[in-house]
Amino acid sequence: MKKIIVANWKMNPETPREARELFAKVKRAASRLRRAEAVICPPAIFLPLLRSGKNLALGGQDMFEEPRGAPARPNGRSGGYTGSISAAQIKYVGAEYVILGHSERRRLGETDELINRKVRLALKTGLRVILCVGEAARDLRGDYLQVLRGALERGLERVARGELKDLIIAYEPVWAIGGEASAADTPEGFLEQALFLKKILAGKFGQKSALTAPILYGGSVTPDNAAAFLTRGEASGLLVGHESLRADHFNSILRLSDAAHHD
Ligand code: PGA
Repeated sequence: MKKIIVANWKMNPETPREARELFAKVKRAASRLRRAEAVICPPAIFLPLLRSGKNLALGGQDMFEEPRGAPARPNGRSGGYTGSISAAQIKYVGAEYVILGHSERRRLGETDELINRKVRLALKTGLRVILCVGEAARDLRGDYLQVLRGALERGLERVARGELKDLIIAYEPVWAIGGEASAADTPEGFLEQALFLKKILAGKFGQKSALTAPILYGGSVTPDNAAAFLTRGEASGLLVGHESLRADHFNSILRLSDAAHHD
């Protein structure tokens, strides 16, 4: 299975021209990959400007939990969802994937229940879901494992085994995310959490299906640590935030991922 390297551009860059330039550079590098593929998740407004290519797909960073908006009703109970973007809209401007449950969305108040509605709708719409889970802090008592279990179990409630083929889990410890994070996790730390997540998936969907679900690592991935997560950490791929905005750095992460494999 090819390594999946996801770029989360977050609310960047500022102009369509910068978005096109960054994308064009990544597109060239992606076309030369053999054992890895890239998924670029720009702000939704840039999706129609970018065309997927060889080893290069597009994804949204979030979506609304209702399939469509109705015009506002006179009684004031609006079902219009002003400002929101639907799963279908993301899909019809070229996205194959959507990131859901990112910690930066959770921080704005998204609950596991809300994320679950999005997950089910995205899968029904034919998008592949990158579901992010991760603890705010790790404690020796292991309370954080319950946070992970809750996020995964509630996030995947009423998801059918047959839909698992369109599901990717991104393990992103919140304390490791962003330019100001103190450090990335270690490959060994990732491996341990990934096994725990697999066990939960196996309990829910059966051993065989659980084994095929890719688990990515995210949180301060750089060209310096990317390969170790894929080899020693046995990650199925990476979710890259701030380093995905630097084409040279992201492209070297792609090349390193192409070369990295574990036995
Ligand atoms: P980071 O972000 O690589 O900047 O830590 C990862 C993410 O937010 O998904």
